[in-house]
Amino acid sequence: MANILIFDSGMGGLSVYREVHRALPTHQYFYLFDNACFPYGELGEARLVERVLELLTTFVPRHDIDIVIIACNTASTHVLPALRERLHIPVVGVVPAIKPAAEYCRLHELNHIGLLATPGTVSRSYTAELVQRFAADMQVSMLGTTELVKMAESKLAGQAVDMTRLSRILAPWRGEDGPDALVLGCTHFPLLAEELSQCLPQAQLVDSGEAIARRVASLLLQPASDAGGERGPAGRLYCTRLTAKARIQDEAFAAEGFCRLEEFTS
Ligand code: DGL
Repeated sequence: MANILIFDSGMGGLSVYREVHRALPTHQYFYLFDNACFPYGELGEARLVERVLELLTTFVPRHDIDIVIIACNTASTHVLPALRERLHIPVVGVVPAIKPAAEYCRLHELNHIGLLATPGTVSRSYTAELVQRFAADMQVSMLGTTELVKMAESKLAGQAVDMTRLSRILAPWRGEDGPDALVLGCTHFPLLAEELSQCLPQAQLVDSGEAIARRVASLLLQPASDAGGERGPAGRLYCTRLTAKARIQDEAFAAEGFCRLEEFTS
């Protein structure tokens, strides 16, 4: 049994946890979210690296973690090289699924990819390189939004999604020349998949969750079972500041089989 850490700024990593846990249910999962510095999409790059290194170089040895999943595009598109230098275990990053989106478009003779992500992710040179490398022949439009990240968190806390607000955020893409493939380049956004599809019905949604599960399975030298095999121990849940909001978020994690929320201090 491996100790697998899922890390995000907030609850978005749950969309990744669901895929990984479904494929590999027998392991011990840890989920750490950095709500003290949420949202990451608005943090400067230097601060982001410093913060993620500070947290993970402490958390990983303290809990004897075997594999880290950075379930956050905003962090993965910038901190992975520094993190891999400091942690001597596999670090799996989640980055926008531009390549599969381009494959989908080619297969269906379509050509418009929309990247929905945080302001941080859309501004990264790493993201520009991904587009250059895998979708240079396509029309790629990007929309960076923190509002949607917050809406996803509110939905998990039991609030109804305001569809008028959502339509307003997606206004640049509504209408005939909207994207054919919509890359959910923030792990919070698969949590709003239904609502996004309602607003942009022509777009095929593409995220990185399943690919991450396959990558983790290959690192564990284990087939991704999807068989609902024996479940491992309850997941352990940590935030960086025990706020009233975090206690509400705790409910959503409890529904996924996590233990009670604890505060992690580095
Ligand atoms: N869930 C994160 C991502 O995938 C970021 C959300 C935030 O801005 O904190 O990018």
